Amino acid sequence: MIDYLFPTKIYSVDLLKKEKNSYLSSLKKEILRISAYDKEGQKWSQKNYYKGYTSYGSTKEGLDQLHHFSSSFFELKQKIDKHIYLFSKELDFNIPNKSLVISKLWINIMPNSVIHTGHIHPLSVISGTFYVDIPGKNGPALKFEDPRFPMMMAVPPKKENPKKDNLNFYNFIPTPGKLVLFESWLRHEVNQNTHSKPRISVSFNYDWI
Ligand code: NI
Repeated sequence: MIDYLFPTKIYSVDLLKKEKNSYLSSLKKEILRISAYDKEGQKWSQKNYYKGYTSYGSTKEGLDQLHHFSSSFFELKQKIDKHIYLFSKELDFNIPNKSLVISKLWINIMPNSVIHTGHIHPLSVISGTFYVDIPGKNGPALKFEDPRFPMMMAVPPKKENPKKDNLNFYNFIPTPGKLVLFESWLRHEVNQNTHSKPRISVSFNYDWI
């Protein structure tokens, strides 16, 4: 018998049930409008998100909290809230209902050649991304890293195609309309965009208050 202990859980769901294309295309238009207008974000991105754009650092006008900025992002947050609750139940968090609260919601545009290197989301509990537009069939993946790496001393290399639960890296393939959630301490990166079209997404953090 094999027990599967201490698993790393990744939650994903198709967020949109109906009118998916019109919802995504109007959100995309709004994202492109904000990115063209957001001078603070453009400047921040030049330094921290080379060749790409994110509103993560746009704190002056609150474009890092877009759920306060427009009704479409507020509606998106409402949709995400439900799944944060379901994921926290799956994780058996013993905290009162609604004590996980959104702290940040921002947009990301990754044109050709842009890469987002490995990081965690400090001080948050659950983080995630909603995908608006993804180039190609297997568009740039969200790559998760095995959190046990620092403890691995004499671990032999893995076979070429190990079982999913034996992988040390996992590529989550995003598709438009999909939502992915993970615990904020889990290190991840976004693979390089090798396509000509940009990869467009909305990311967020939920904190315990
Ligand atoms: Ni991230």
